[in-house]
Amino acid sequence: MQNDILEVLYSEQDIQEKVKEMGELLSRDFEGRNPLVICVLKGAFIFMSDLVKRMTVPLEIDFMAVSSYGQSTKSSGVVKIVKDLDVPVEGRHILIVEDIIDSGLTLSYLIDVLERRNALSITVAALFDKPARRTTDLEADYKGFSIPDAFVVGYGLDYAEKYRNLPYVGILKPEVYSH
Ligand code: XMP
Ligand code: MG
Repeated sequence: MQNDILEVLYSEQDIQEKVKEMGELLSRDFEGRNPLVICVLKGAFIFMSDLVKRMTVPLEIDFMAVSSYGQSTKSSGVVKIVKDLDVPVEGRHILIVEDIIDSGLTLSYLIDVLERRNALSITVAALFDKPARRTTDLEADYKGFSIPDAFVVGYGLDYAEKYRNLPYVGILKPEVYSH
C-alpha cells in the first residue's frame, strides 16, 4: 500500500490534532443541543469515530450511505441513497460528518433530503475540502484541511475500496488508477 502513495499530505498526528480541535469547537457550539450526528459512509467512518470521542456533549449517531463515485475518481453527478437513517430527523439538530467535499453534489443532495424531512438545524463538518473543484455554493461549517485538486486516500478514503485503513492521508500515484 505504501508504495502506491506519491506523497503523504497529513500524518496521523496532524490529523489527530485537527480532529481534536474540531471536536472542541463542536462541543462548545453544540452545548445544550443534543445533536444527531450522521456519518456519511463509507469514507467518513474513521473521522466520525475519532471526532465523537472528542465531543463532550450528549449526542446520538446514525449512518447513511450514498453513492456518487463508484470505482471512478470523478463524481458521476448522480447521488443515490444506498442506506438510509434508522431514526427520524424531524425536530433534531443534525451534524453531518463528511470525509471530503469535492464538487459538493453529495452534500447538497443530503442537506436537501434532511431539510425536506424537517430537521431543526443542519451543520456540516468535513475533514477535507477541495475548493478548486466545487460546482455548488456549498461550504462546510467546520472544515479540517483545504487540499489541492489531487485524488487522496487513507483515513477512511478509498480508491476502489482500498487504502481506507492507512492512518495518514496521501496522494495516490496517478499510475495506480490510470491503467
Ligand atoms: P462530491 O463531489 O459530491 O464528492 O463533493 C464527495 C465524495 O466524493 C468522494 N471523494 C473522494 N474520495 N479521495 C477519495 O477517496 C478523494 O480525493 C475524493 N474526492 C472526493 C468522497 O467519497 C466524498 O464523500
Ligand atoms: Mg469513496
